[in-house]
Amino acid sequence: MPMETVRLAREGEIAIATIDNPPVNALGQALRADLARVIAEAGADPAVSAIVLAAVGRAFVAGADISEFGKPPLAPFLPDVLDSIETCRKPVVAAIQGVALGGGLEVALACHGRVASVSASFGLPEIKLGLIPGAGGTQRLPRLIGAAQAFPMMLAGEPITASRALSLHLVDEVVDGDVVAAAVALARQLAARGAPERVCDRTGRLTAADREAFEAQALATTKSSGEMPNAMALIEAVRGVFALPFAEGLAVERALFLKLVADPRSAALRHVFFAEREIARVPGIGAGVKPRPIANAAVIGAGTMGGGIAMCFANAGIPVTLIEQEQAQIDNGMNRVAAIYAMSVTRGSLTPEKRDERLALITPAVGLAAAADADIVIEAAFEEMGVKQQIFGALDGIAKSGAILASNTSYLDVPTIAAATKRPQDVLGMHFFSPANVMKLLEVVRPQGVADDAVVTAMALGRRLGKVPVVVGNGFGFVGNRMLEARTRATERLLIAGALPHEVDAALTGFGFKMGPCAMADLAGNDIGWRSRKARGKTAAVADAICEAGWFGQKTGRGYFLYPEGARSGQRDPEVEALIARISEEQGVTRRSFTTDEILSRLLDPMVNEGARILEEGIAARPGDIDVIWLNGYNWPAWRGGPMYWADTVGLRTLVARLEQQAAETGDATLQPAPLLRRLADESKGFADLKARSA
Ligand code: CAA
Repeated sequence: MPMETVRLAREGEIAIATIDNPPVNALGQALRADLARVIAEAGADPAVSAIVLAAVGRAFVAGADISEFGKPPLAPFLPDVLDSIETCRKPVVAAIQGVALGGGLEVALACHGRVASVSASFGLPEIKLGLIPGAGGTQRLPRLIGAAQAFPMMLAGEPITASRALSLHLVDEVVDGDVVAAAVALARQLAARGAPERVCDRTGRLTAADREAFEAQALATTKSSGEMPNAMALIEAVRGVFALPFAEGLAVERALFLKLVADPRSAALRHVFFAEREIARVPGIGAGVKPRPIANAAVIGAGTMGGGIAMCFANAGIPVTLIEQEQAQIDNGMNRVAAIYAMSVTRGSLTPEKRDERLALITPAVGLAAAADADIVIEAAFEEMGVKQQIFGALDGIAKSGAILASNTSYLDVPTIAAATKRPQDVLGMHFFSPANVMKLLEVVRPQGVADDAVVTAMALGRRLGKVPVVVGNGFGFVGNRMLEARTRATERLLIAGALPHEVDAALTGFGFKMGPCAMADLAGNDIGWRSRKARGKTAAVADAICEAGWFGQKTGRGYFLYPEGARSGQRDPEVEALIARISEEQGVTRRSFTTDEILSRLLDPMVNEGARILEEGIAARPGDIDVIWLNGYNWPAWRGGPMYWADTVGLRTLVARLEQQAAETGDATLQPAPLLRRLADESKGFADLKARSA
């Protein structure tokens, strides 16, 4: 017999229905059925005068069960269950002790009273899944708090606190103590008053002024998010509050919701939701492995990267020592950090007090000896093996026993760095992305020989720093940069074959990236890739020629594009275009034009191919991990789900055929489909069919 997800108990004439459906009380079919049954039972019981709907765990109810979306719907449906709550002849009071999100808030809105504990929070985050509330949220919330308050809340999808909910009259009461007892008291009062007041009947908030304010918000949203189907659907649904009777408004909302659930963009965002949670499970490391305590840190190297990493610690309230070799270098580093904080204060995103608190957490120091007491040391020195080995060799004699020693290397071999110490079990990579205090991605590089609890510590610390940490295996460029390099090579091939920088970039921004590869190289500095190629004996005719001309990008006023007078977005540069045409000619290539789709295929297919090799080699454990890396480190558009998810939507057979054609046309053997890609295509499977492998 399946476990009951709702328990029914009695306190005098009050029935208390307690939801208990771990981990977060999501409204799966079983919970919906149990809720409907319990409400019907208590509603029909002559000894019951009112019902309290409570829950246990960290969530009151976290919303619909997202894993059910896209599958055949199972009765009872949530809107019907909520209707049975709202039309119950006895008052139903929600006792909200944790998060009430999406369908969870909609459950509370269908009740006749709402009591919240101080730590409760409320939100309708459906917009982030490409949806709108689908169980009456767009109709009940405006009736309760006004459309001009409800619309922005649904559009942002961010939760609000209990005290904010009280000030909006979303809840009737906020209590510091026993929320169920307070809800029982309110239920008694409501029962004494007779027929319960239903949110769907309220009209007091829907004034002409409210309508006008909402319409102004709707107009602004149409201008700024015109291409977002869910934002437009939200406007349409909320408009129904003023124009339609409740039942008709509900029907409009439901139809819009179901259409959005079927939209591939929402399916991609749901994939992202689960992939971002899956990364916490590191293959081969059980839940019993606990992180080492981290009370303080040291960062070696006060350049842009090191300073940014130190800021991450300070922002999270963790004391950090920032170390350089010379006083002048550390002074420069601290000045840079102070300038970034000052900018945040000017922009209003940080108070002067918070800035002072954060700066006080960063202690500047000269010499590695200052790392002696740190629980974790992160090296962010010059990207050269000799430099790193020297630092780690010295740290071995300085750092305390059990300290984690991490390198922020972007490309170098972590075991070779670890070999400079006698404690490889404590050495791993923590690869931050620039600017480190902003970018969410953190690649935790797990070389062979590192202790499991060191990996778990780096992951837990990453989350404390507000990052999205993903475990990756050791290998050149790890995951993100290795795939980026595949795209960079593809850009070079395209330019020589006939596309121009602005065409390549436009294809990618049209796909949803914020920037194309040429603008991105200009922003990062073309000399960085140039230096790295030279160190590895590699060449790239166009990129090298641009650097040889001294066109390093935005910082020199020109790169692939022109940036007159410090402009942030580039203009076409006839000299660069002529230079590219000359290189094509020198290489005997007859230039031809490319369609946007061709450009996209040539940029993205090789990335997926590299991703397949990364999976074959176990450098990434799951395709979803690669997707999370590209979403959080490289601005891959979330509604396209990430490169491996995107590949499945294209179809792996199609990809194999396209790569074979590109390999034949260019004579580049690296474009031959990876064996894993070929095998999955032959078996008519996608990356989603792969099981996790140990990184
Ligand atoms: N459906 C299915 N599973 C869910 C879920 C949901 N709505 N919310 C969370 N989970 C699962 C997670 O996948 C995770 O599972 P695993 O442990 O197996 O990985 C587990 O619950 C715990 O989740 P978190 O790791 O995220 O835990 P947390 O404590 O950090 O956060 C949370 C909890 C704030 C509830 C967060 O999970 C969250 O934001 N959930 C999504 C809320 C949401 O988007 N709700 C709207 C759903 S759409 C809807 O409701 C439509 C409608 O109108 C009917």
